[in-house]
Amino acid sequence: MQILKTDILILGTGLAGLSLAKYTNEINPKIKITLLTKTSIDKCNTFYAQGGIAVVHNFIKDSYEKHIEDTLKAGKGFCDVDVVNSVVKQAPDRLKELLSWGIELDKNQSGELDLGLEGGHSQNRIVHYKDKTGYEIETKLVPLIKNLPNISIKTSFFATDLLIKNNTCIGVVGFDDKNEPTTIYTKAVVLATGGSGQVFGVTSNPFVSTGDGVAMAFRAGAKLVNMKYIQFHPTALYEPNKSQAFLITEAIRGFGAHILNNKMERFVSQYHPDGELATRDVVSKAISDQMKKEHSNHVWLDVRHLPIQTFKMKFPKVYNYCLENGINISKDLIPIAPAAHYQCGGIDVDSNGKTSVKQLFAIGECSHTGLHGSNRLASNSLLEAMVYSHSLANYLTNNIHKTRIKTTNNIKIVNKYIRHEDILEFRNLIQKFMTYDTIFRTTENLESKYQSIIEIENRFLKKFKDYNFHPYLCETYNLIQTALIILKDKMNETTTKK
Ligand code: SIN
Repeated sequence: MQILKTDILILGTGLAGLSLAKYTNEINPKIKITLLTKTSIDKCNTFYAQGGIAVVHNFIKDSYEKHIEDTLKAGKGFCDVDVVNSVVKQAPDRLKELLSWGIELDKNQSGELDLGLEGGHSQNRIVHYKDKTGYEIETKLVPLIKNLPNISIKTSFFATDLLIKNNTCIGVVGFDDKNEPTTIYTKAVVLATGGSGQVFGVTSNPFVSTGDGVAMAFRAGAKLVNMKYIQFHPTALYEPNKSQAFLITEAIRGFGAHILNNKMERFVSQYHPDGELATRDVVSKAISDQMKKEHSNHVWLDVRHLPIQTFKMKFPKVYNYCLENGINISKDLIPIAPAAHYQCGGIDVDSNGKTSVKQLFAIGECSHTGLHGSNRLASNSLLEAMVYSHSLANYLTNNIHKTRIKTTNNIKIVNKYIRHEDILEFRNLIQKFMTYDTIFRTTENLESKYQSIIEIENRFLKKFKDYNFHPYLCETYNLIQTALIILKDKMNETTTKK
């Protein structure tokens, strides 16, 4: 067993993990930080984020009060008002820092930041880089972080579990890029592991979004909150049998796209006066209802009436992807359907990202801060990642010197070769059960779905009982556990309502 030590261990290299490393380095470049990613550094949800970051920037037309109100409305009464206030008001400062790191954002003809509009926002306030904001952030931040001498990045490192001693997280166990069993001891473990979209049959999340952080935190006894609040993005490209559905950014509806049924009629305004620009829960429900009514797998997004040259300039990623897949958006309709997109609940944290387990922290999508309530407002997620990594960096730099690295002799790790296809079978089974309908329509047979997944879990544990720490197994087990956590939380909600 290889043993390593570091001051701060960050799991995940999306915006949350990278910005935490950057902020911490800016405050105290002597603190040793290790960043882990289970594949390559850019395989994360941030990389795919198209929309941008919601920030009040134009104080003539917009205000903090409006952004706060929009966030609370989208969250349907489940947001923490103090958290919403604090996050919204920190946005301009976090934006300045992002710009100071060299991230490029689109400007309008007057040289001001171009502010896009997305569903649920009463004002244009989304700063963005074309339709590839996340790509811009990752590709600029990664080299900055790589060049810092106090930061070590380990790619293809699969952390299988947290090491807990006396309700304190003292490190992680896992496998390094040579598949060598490894223990890393540290003074602070930060989960920045992203979401769990791959629990679902259709998702905009990449193959790596398997709820690892949530499942590890669950096994470590950390408090989880609101895992039932899964957000479906209304407009993913309908591409059957793809493990990651390509997203058609909401900003395109902000730019004027229409959603049509098979009769070529717009229908979303029957659900909400804001029509296509209502919040995601409303638009996803409208589309899902329409698909049911028409016995169809998708509806259509229509951008044919929009100025094509401007469209190409603003949304090159969507334009090119569609073209490569035989859809010329200036002439053709785009088939779209809702896809699991964002985990609004997660590992419960305070304003510094502290979880209920000592020395364990969580930031970004895997955490539950109280910002999103039951339905995240578009483009509030990258903002949340920046705000919480900033406050955690301040907390850790002020407190880490008070902690000593602790160790344990009680570590068991088994590593055996296993066929990937054997495991995939279980992954596919879970995804078949977890759909839009499971979350938003099932009430009476939730219990039976839960029991079926328990049976899958039992079969899985029996079949692989000697392989319990293999990386692929752990990832799939994390998926199974996350599906159960989501369903259990949903069942509790249904019981409470009765
Ligand atoms: C989008 O571009 O529609 C997604 C952005 C987000 O998830 O907030």
